[in-house]
Amino acid sequence: MQDLAGKHIVLGLTGGIACYKSAELCRLFVKAGATVQVVMTEAAEQFITPVTMQALSGRTVYTSQWDTREPNNMPHINLSREADAIVLAPCSADFIARLVQGRSDDLLSLMCLARPMDRIPLLIAPAMNREMWAHPATQRNLMQVSADGATVLGVGSGWQACGETGDGRMLEPAQLLEDITAFFSPKLLAGHKVLVTAGPTFEALDPIRGITNHSSGKMGFAIARAAREAGAEVTLVAGPVHLPTPRGVTRVDVLSAQDMLEATTRAAEYASIFVATAAVADWRPATQSDQKIKKDGSGKTPVLEFVENADILLTVARSERAQSRKLFCVGFAAESENLVEHAKAKRQRKGIPLLVGNIGPLAFGQDDNALLLVDTHGVRELPRAPKLTLARELMTEIAARLPDWRV
Ligand code: CTP
Repeated sequence: MQDLAGKHIVLGLTGGIACYKSAELCRLFVKAGATVQVVMTEAAEQFITPVTMQALSGRTVYTSQWDTREPNNMPHINLSREADAIVLAPCSADFIARLVQGRSDDLLSLMCLARPMDRIPLLIAPAMNREMWAHPATQRNLMQVSADGATVLGVGSGWQACGETGDGRMLEPAQLLEDITAFFSPKLLAGHKVLVTAGPTFEALDPIRGITNHSSGKMGFAIARAAREAGAEVTLVAGPVHLPTPRGVTRVDVLSAQDMLEATTRAAEYASIFVATAAVADWRPATQSDQKIKKDGSGKTPVLEFVENADILLTVARSERAQSRKLFCVGFAAESENLVEHAKAKRQRKGIPLLVGNIGPLAFGQDDNALLLVDTHGVRELPRAPKLTLARELMTEIAARLPDWRV
């Protein structure tokens, strides 16, 4: 997806082993539709060559303020003025300290100091050893660069090139792309707390077996990501799925419908928007065996009895918070036929302001989908598109309905 189409990014590399990840980051930016101008410090050139970065960005790399290619010999002015953002990845502890001091004795620091602060954001992806990261000097400097208007993108945790384990690694390129895409997104849901349920539930029969369904969780995860991009604080209650947690989203993993009900009702006490995408099992086995149910050799098959699970959406929609219009509830309906009629009826039955319908068999596990929005005014189609595109459109639709909604 061309999430950064039309954006021009100045990618600054400073000295650190994480420079090897910057090659991939550059490639992801270009794939996402951005044009990229790479600027490197002398120390960065010890870790990766400008030739690699030139080949990946399709532009010659700048390394010196004395570069004679610029007719006015002012690359620090020219390069920063045309950028939509300057991204420093990796940003070393030393370079952060230099930013704090406003030093300008090499092209990259000079360019950061000379950037128009009101127009050109500076995003920093720190990368360093865990002790350097934890050092009060670094933490003090990070607070200062933030106070001076830079956005610090955070660090990863885990194994480090030095052999130690802890905080301070540069975020992975895909994580940085997600954060930078979110940075550019309009903050339509700023101040909101969005709660999303996603994926299937698993209703255990015994410690080995259980009943579940084909929901992949992709739509719900895309919605959680889109809500975070739109500036909301997001909690994602997820059934058993194999999907990475969207950046900046709090994830609560659950297994059964009962676990999901508990986690969701708890989080709903603080939420202002609830989007129920989970394919919750309607029934669970009436009894759950502590031990594996064994064949007894007689050829007789076990008889399963079920009890109905609580309807999580209905429970939340009937809560005091939703009834007093502090919580906007959105339901999903996966149907196999007569989508419009079923979706309209379901919206009424659940007593919610917005219901999103889709044809289940065409959506499950797929990366794209088509949605039908049903509210008190009628029906509106969001044509087939990637789930993340639809999720972003849905956030816009929800934001537009927030000031004045009716069930
Ligand atoms: N839902 C829920 N808890 C349940 C069942 C459903 O929160 N126990 C939510 C789903 O997340 C979805 C919506 O309710 O947002 C629609 O669920 P669906 O199962 O399609 O509808 P039902 O009300 O179960 O109706 P039917 O089985 O007749 O299709």
